[in-house]
Amino acid sequence: SRIAVFASGQGSNFAALAAAQRGGRLGSGRIELLVSDKPEAPVAQRAEEAGVPSLLLRPKDFASRELYEAEIVAELQRREIGLIVLAGYMRLITPTLLVPYAGRIINIHPSLLPAFAGKDAIGQALDYGVKLTGVTVHFVDGGMDTGPVIAQRGVQVEEQDTVESLAERIHQVEYELYPQVVAEMAAGRVGLTGRKTVIRK
Ligand code: GRF
Repeated sequence: SRIAVFASGQGSNFAALAAAQRGGRLGSGRIELLVSDKPEAPVAQRAEEAGVPSLLLRPKDFASRELYEAEIVAELQRREIGLIVLAGYMRLITPTLLVPYAGRIINIHPSLLPAFAGKDAIGQALDYGVKLTGVTVHFVDGGMDTGPVIAQRGVQVEEQDTVESLAERIHQVEYELYPQVVAEMAAGRVGLTGRKTVIRK
């Protein structure tokens, strides 16, 4: 499958996915494009280093969210992208993208959803005082971190954890889990019935 990664930030998950592809751990997945809404974000540099072309847009240059996304859809279609992988893409997706890519957009979130959706999930978990948090990969719908769950991994919260130390362990889990799920998606092994997903072996 031809993949577009959408990201707004550091791009460490982008880099982990690119490394997985180089190492043969992304199955038939090929990262063909980075899409970013923050042209100055470090992820753009990561794409350049990985030799992946990027589409860098400023949403405020467009009259509406729909026109911004329509520009993205046109580029995805030109490149025959079949799977959209959100990796720290800090905006909601509208039907302009959701309709043509129904069931083909996934996201990673640093908590065990439905707990701690939205921004600063790691800080939210620490503030709440949970003893177990983790990572979720899920299908994307129009809500914030609300689509059907594909895979989850737990991460223990230690008494002396700070946001930084906990984030470090959560990120390591992300870098391992996301390439696995992307490979399963690329192989067409992730099925969906209502909110329930299954991974066929
Ligand atoms: C990750 O923690 C991801 O779960 C969340 O945003 C963060 C992105 O980090 N959605 P990076 O840009 O991949 O380094």
